[in-house]
Amino acid sequence: MGIREQDLQNIVDGLSTAEKDKLNGSTVLITGCGGFLGYYFMNLLAEKGEDLGVKKVIGLDNFMLGKPKWIERIEKSPIVEIDKFDIIHDKLSDIQGASAADLIIHMASIASPMFYRTYPIETLDANIWGLRALLDTYVKKPIKGLLFFSSSETYGDPDAEHVPTNEEYRGSVSFTGPRACYDESKRFGETMCMLYAKQYDMPIGVARPFNNYGPGMRINDKRVVADFANDVVNGKDIVILSNGTPTRTFCYIADAITGYLKVLLHGTYDYFNIGIDKPEISMVELANIYAEAGKQLFGYQGEVKFATSEDPAYLTNNPQRRCPDITKARTVLGYDPKVHVNEGVGRFLQFIKENDEGEYLW
Ligand SMILES: NC(=O)c1ccc[n+]([C@@H]2O[C@H](COP(=O)([O-])OP(=O)(O)OC[C@H]3O[C@@H](n4cnc5c(N)ncnc54)[C@H](O)[C@@H]3O)[C@@H](O)[C@H]2O)c1
Repeated sequence: MGIREQDLQNIVDGLSTAEKDKLNGSTVLITGCGGFLGYYFMNLLAEKGEDLGVKKVIGLDNFMLGKPKWIERIEKSPIVEIDKFDIIHDKLSDIQGASAADLIIHMASIASPMFYRTYPIETLDANIWGLRALLDTYVKKPIKGLLFFSSSETYGDPDAEHVPTNEEYRGSVSFTGPRACYDESKRFGETMCMLYAKQYDMPIGVARPFNNYGPGMRINDKRVVADFANDVVNGKDIVILSNGTPTRTFCYIADAITGYLKVLLHGTYDYFNIGIDKPEISMVELANIYAEAGKQLFGYQGEVKFATSEDPAYLTNNPQRRCPDITKARTVLGYDPKVHVNEGVGRFLQFIKENDEGEYLW
């Protein structure tokens, strides 16, 4: 079994019987299906959906950063339909079968800071008007779950006393800085979710992802986990675009997707950190993990170097520490991420090695 097949099986195995029962007979609508997280969601539903009793999957994306080649494979599934669709401007009523969806996942919104800064208004609109369009479409419908992808960036740059960060921390966010289009639209999106859930009794789940990485991320995505993979597979030195001291925890994609499904299928309004709580490592440590994994897998011989980004806003308001407290997701949802970053980076690089460019570059 390849890395993707193993991961998809691990995701299914991570779901409880009650969670699988909710997937049975459902129609799933996913916005932003062509992105990094879309890769495992769509592969999972295309390959395992029928076994899980999923009736139909509608994937929507405007492909603003290009249409991935892997979409062609997914489209061959008899239960999957993919449409080029812009959640800001296009009408859901034009998509056949959309109104019958009972599990809805809103992911449309560029996640890489380098790209969302290029499209700040589009980012704002996808998280606000795009989300509003979905809430209004499903407000009076008998849905089983609507999952909004918020972000750990809603916490901004927490002080030391609030790291690890739990869900009740209110955030230390700049509302006029270069990341504001993303951070503030996620925050406002969460407010909309809370209001619709309370006023209309909607089963809305909010996930706050903390730094995912792994298969499905294109290596020219410009997030650090992609940059390092790009350096290693191309035999170049690993370049760190900071002083190397900011710290993060890195959550492997298969663990994270299991968590997102649990939030989606929870059935009542709530919000959860989804990530991994250890180890919290610096960018230098992460670079060394990539170098070591590359050495084992490809005989990689590059070095770790430092440089300054050409983008002057690259480090503006970049949080110094990011580490989730995931007690709530563990306790309420039974979420239990397992893949250590050393293993996950190896799996990501191994995946790249065993697939052609259409799976990781577009
Ligand atoms: N990956 C992470 O670690 C992470 C962290 C925090 C939050 N998130 C959130 O999770 C979601 C998915 O993240 P990702 O890493 O897959 O992002 P991504 O940037 O890889 O993919 C986003 C997808 O949304 C699509 N999209 C953007 N605007 C759209 C619009 N108006 N209409 C239709 N499609 C549109 C893009 O074409 C792209 O395919 C995003 O909402 C992101 O903000 C992800």
